[in-house]
Amino acid sequence: MEIAKISGTNERENGALIKVRDLVKVYPTAANGVEALKGINLEVHEGEFLAIFGKSGAGKSTLINMITGIDSPDAGEVQIGGVSIHSMSDDELTRWRGRNLGVVYQFFQLLPTLSLVENITLAMDFCDTYPLAKRSERALQLLDQVGIREHAHKVPSKISGGQQQRVAIARALANDPNVIVADEPTGNLDSQTADDIYDLFSDLISLGKTLVIVTHDQEIAERASRILEISDGRIISSRSIKVPSNGRSSHEAAPSSNHVSRRTHALL
Ligand SMILES: Nc1ncnc2c1ncn2[C@@H]1O[C@H](COP(=O)(O)OP(=O)(O)OP(=O)(O)O)[C@@H](O)[C@H]1O
Ligand SMILES: [Mg+2]
Repeated sequence: MEIAKISGTNERENGALIKVRDLVKVYPTAANGVEALKGINLEVHEGEFLAIFGKSGAGKSTLINMITGIDSPDAGEVQIGGVSIHSMSDDELTRWRGRNLGVVYQFFQLLPTLSLVENITLAMDFCDTYPLAKRSERALQLLDQVGIREHAHKVPSKISGGQQQRVAIARALANDPNVIVADEPTGNLDSQTADDIYDLFSDLISLGKTLVIVTHDQEIAERASRILEISDGRIISSRSIKVPSNGRSSHEAAPSSNHVSRRTHALL
């Protein structure tokens, strides 16, 4: 199967870029099982910045794992760019995800025996999206962008949790995906670093990327174009916020075509 890059064409033809239909997930347990998602319906349009809120145990990570195809639902469907992702084979899905989605996992999932730079080049090796000779340089640029280039050759256990989180964000951007899905990507960051990451997200929105981010962070919510709340496996509210195309809320500076930071431009 040809693994196409998601394009805006699909969105125009089918409406939303991401479509979640009647999604149900039940985790088996010794008792009756935990119904973590109880029929989720959701559409995300290209260029949207969706923030997902909800208490611990509400089902946020479960929903993210369904959208990324890391886990499969018991009922319902997820379509991204017109592709029904759970109907692909594991191999196809893994290759498709590598090319199309940047995923930041709640617990980072860095490979412990590889250096930070190798963790990022591996993502590129897997998809073959950049020439071999360019991959290390790009990985270092990404680490620079998240402020930890100086640690590039350390293994994950030798850096802090917040630094590992930044590596996970850098790795998610390695193949320049159109959709970035992140589970609490600023949960471990100090406020200065978190600010840099918010700016990076705003840049990504300016570049036309689609962001779906689970967060407890009010600052992210202020930049989102829509806020979704999940409780006990159901969506209980969805609130759209009018934001300019650069992803900053309306009280901030107006967008301009050269708004995207030079560091982000360097990654294109
Ligand atoms: N592998 C699993 N086996 C059994 N139950 C699970 C499993 N993973 C999650 N659950 C249960 O499913 C429900 C939703 O969990 P989920 O991890 O999606 O919550 P969350 O909203 O991401 O919470 P948090 O904010 O703490 O990360 C919870 O009741 C949780 O205990
Ligand atoms: Mg979670």
